[in-house]
Parts: sequence; C-alpha cells; structure tokens
Amino acid sequence: MSAAVESKYQPHDMQFRRLGPAGLKVSVFSLGGWLTYGKTQTGDVVKDCLQAAWDNGINFFDTAEVYANGQCEVEMGRALKELAWPRDEFVLSTKVYFGTGRKEPNTRGLSKKHIVEGLKSSLQRLQQPYVDIVFAHRHDPDVPMKEIVEAFTQAIHMNLAYYWGTSEWSAKQIQEAHDIAEKYNLIAPVAEQPQYNAFHRERFESEYAPLYEQFQYGTTIWSPLASGLLTGKYDQGIPDDSRFATHEMFKEEAAKLKSPEGQAKLEKVRKLGKVAERLGGNTAQLALAWAAKNPNVSTVILGATKPQQVHDNCKALQLLPKLTDEVVDEIESILQNKPNSKL
Ligand SMILES: NC(=O)c1ccc[n+]([C@@H]2O[C@H](COP(=O)([O-])OP(=O)(O)OC[C@H]3O[C@@H](n4cnc5c(N)ncnc54)[C@H](OP(=O)(O)O)[C@@H]3O)[C@@H](O)[C@H]2O)c1
Repeated sequence: MSAAVESKYQPHDMQFRRLGPAGLKVSVFSLGGWLTYGKTQTGDVVKDCLQAAWDNGINFFDTAEVYANGQCEVEMGRALKELAWPRDEFVLSTKVYFGTGRKEPNTRGLSKKHIVEGLKSSLQRLQQPYVDIVFAHRHDPDVPMKEIVEAFTQAIHMNLAYYWGTSEWSAKQIQEAHDIAEKYNLIAPVAEQPQYNAFHRERFESEYAPLYEQFQYGTTIWSPLASGLLTGKYDQGIPDDSRFATHEMFKEEAAKLKSPEGQAKLEKVRKLGKVAERLGGNTAQLALAWAAKNPNVSTVILGATKPQQVHDNCKALQLLPKLTDEVVDEIESILQNKPNSKL
C-alpha cells in the first residue's frame, strides 16, 4: 500500500472556476512563463515566482514549446521538480504549434506527427508524465481539421494530456473542430487561450460570444495587463528593467506611446489608477479584477518577472467584490471601447 500523499496546497482566498465544460477546476488567477522563465529569468527566481503563486492559492501554470525555444519548459519543469508539489494538486498546460526554432517542416505545425511528437518533447523538457491541458497554439490551415482533432484525441488516449484547447483560433475554426468531434466521435476542445485585457476586447467579447453559449467554451486569457501597460508603469517613460525596454518586439509599441493615440491610452490608465486608488488597490489590480469579473473568463494568466509582482497582482482578488455595476460603468466610460455585441 502506498503512503498517503501529504498535501502542500492551501487555497487561501483563491476562487476557482471550471475550465469551460470540463470538470477541471482552475484558480481564477494562474501564472505563465512567456518572455520570462527561460528567457530573462532563469534559476531560483523562476522557482520563487511559482512559489509566490502557490502561496496565493494559484494552482494552474502555463507554458509552451516555443517559449524561449523550449527553455521555458526546462526552467518551469526544473522548478516544479524542486518544489515537489503533489502532481494531483496542480494543473499544468503547454502549447504546441510553433516548435522550438528548428527549421525541419515536421517539427512545427498541427500535423498528427508534430502534435504527438511535439507534446512528448515538451513533457521531456518539463520532466512530467503528462500535462493537464495541451493547446494548439494557433490554427494550422495546412492540416485537415479532422487530422487535428484526431491527433489531440490520440494524445489524450495516450495519457499525454487530459484535455485540449485552442489558442487564437477564430470562432469559426473552433466551431468546425466541435462539429468534427461530434461527427466522428472524437474529443472536442474545452477552452480557448485568447488575448483579453481592457485594451483588447473585440474577439473575446464579441466574436467568441456564441461559443460560450453553445459549448460553455472556457478561456485562459493572456496579457491581462497588456504586457505591463495596465500597471501604470509606462506613465512617465519606459523603465530600463521593464518588458517594453528589455524585449525588442515591443520597440514599436513603446515608441507609439508618444503618439496622440498612445498618450490617450496612458491617460485612460491614469484614470483607471484613480478608480483603483479609491477602491483601495492599484491600477494593475483593478485591470486584473476587471478581467476576472467577466464570467466567460475561466482563468486570468498572470505574467511576472519577480515574485513581488505575483503577490501584488493576486491582491486583485480583494478588488473583485468591489467591482459593482456602478464601478464597471465608470470603467466603461473611461475605456470607451466596448465592442458591439453580435448576438
Ligand atoms: N497563447 C498565446 O498566444 C499567449 C501569448 C502571450 C502570453 N500567453 C500566456 O499568458 C501569460 C501572461 O501574459 P503576459 O506575460 O503578457 O501578461 P501581462 O500581465 O500582460 O504582462 C506581464 C508582465 O508585466 C509586468 N508586470 C506584471 N505585474 C506587474 C506589476 N504588478 N508591476 C509592474 N509590472 C508588472 C512584468 O514584466 P516586466 O517586469 O518585464 O515589465 C510581467 O512579466 C504568459 O506568460 C503566457 O503563459 C499566451
């Protein structure tokens, strides 16, 4: 008889939501490693960020084969090993599609070969027997949808994952995957991983609306702080140690902050900051609580270069009940970007 597992997890004040139609429960805030773990952050700080998340009741962690060309999975896998949490106490996801930077045509994409082999390679880097969720990091127009749905079904039957999801697929592609799954008795995806934040709303709120109704489709949303813009840290220029300064890909976006449109965005962030202050929080916490308030969000994936950011951001939980209808209306009047519902 094996020894009883000693629990290492405390939920604290965390809230949990089902991942769409699945029985799986994810903390409403989660933590991912894009541009951070294996890239700018390596070694103990990765473990410290995961620990900070765990200490706030976060049970869900996200990575992808492409993050730092596989190094994100290596770093997060090593941290998970050292932390030695019981495997049934945390939820882990990875994503396949972009590969790890190799040029060979079958080491990326959504062919059956890459879905299965890519996922197996991810698991090796993570030092894990399975992930809970594997996402198709983008749609692949070069592969028939039936092969994609069959391949994820096969990966699940091989015990490499329990569920699969999509990331930045169109509503039409997600609908097609469900239709194929139903027609051929295959496993349908349970959740989408889309960008969603106060400055990026259209697809999440409008295009995907029918999916929430029809499939109870779940969402694990990314860049909830618009890469830091919604913390207010770019108000007075670009701090040297911030994402806009340390990553070349944000050069243009950083420059645009000086334009009239950029200044208007920063003005909105300042106004959100005033609302946050009145409610007893800060701008980042308000932006995160605003995202979590949406019932179609299953989990808000945080990004963090430092453990303190995780601790600060998790305080958004305390703002959540303060987002009354009046406060939400006030935020709406600041943002002025509510998408038109297509329902
Ligand atoms: N499926 C996809 O295509 C996709 C795409 C992107 C991301 N994702 C997932 O979503 C996760 C989160 O996305 P994201 O990292 O873009 O989220 P984000 O919350 O928009 O940005 C996180 C970054 O903002 C800064 N930050 C966070 N909290 C802060 C605070 N309290 N004060 C000051 N600065 C703060 C940090 O960068 P600095 O300290 O460097 O400024 C941090 O790395 C990723 O890790 C990944 O798992 C998925």
